[in-house]
Amino acid sequence: MTGVVIAPSILSADFARLGEETRAMADAGADWIHLDVMDGHFVPNITFGPGVIAALRPVTSLTLDVHLMISPVDPYIAAFAESGADVITVHAENGPHLHRSLQAIRALGKKAGVSLNPATHESALQYVLDDIDLILVMSVNPGFGGQSFIPSQLDKIRAIREMIGRRAIRLEVDGGVTPLTAPQIVEAGGDVLVAGSAAFRGGQLCYADNIAELRRAA
Ligand code: DX5
Ligand code: ZN
Repeated sequence: MTGVVIAPSILSADFARLGEETRAMADAGADWIHLDVMDGHFVPNITFGPGVIAALRPVTSLTLDVHLMISPVDPYIAAFAESGADVITVHAENGPHLHRSLQAIRALGKKAGVSLNPATHESALQYVLDDIDLILVMSVNPGFGGQSFIPSQLDKIRAIREMIGRRAIRLEVDGGVTPLTAPQIVEAGGDVLVAGSAAFRGGQLCYADNIAELRRAA
């Protein structure tokens, strides 16, 4: 897929109706579905695990973009691959063995992503650039939806776009993405926009408009 990808985060969905919500987002024109996995240890919130992702897999043929905010992560990579994830992203802050995690993801036939928290320098990516398919810049502190975009991350996005050069690596931005912040993010070099609150606000009747508005802004 070329151009900017819109990836609604189901963190902002109605968890009692996750299948229906995923289908509604797909029908509304979403490109990918972003799934935030949190363990109450790496981040101060708990969401869901591979069982929920496996249950959503038959609901849509869209790319399932799984963002793992869990520590340790390595013991669970195989389970997330088996759940039907297409992209599996791990955090650079997760420990000393980032390269090993990325190798494991690719060995399972999945696309591998690295995420950086707001305070983490982009130099953490330097020696894994040839081992990844996606970089995820957290533009809020991970854990919760509905926070404000941290403006300092725009410089990081620019620097990473430069580092990527001609490599086929997606640059995803997650947190506080709205029709107001999307233009700056895309201008800086982001090409996958994760949106929780901005995509889900107003309920299912609004999803198509929400996605269209984000796409226009991008
Ligand atoms: C935060 C998650 C995000 C979150 C974004 O830890 O990784 O994906 O859902 O939500 P909004 O778009 O509301 O900032
Ligand atoms: Zn996320």
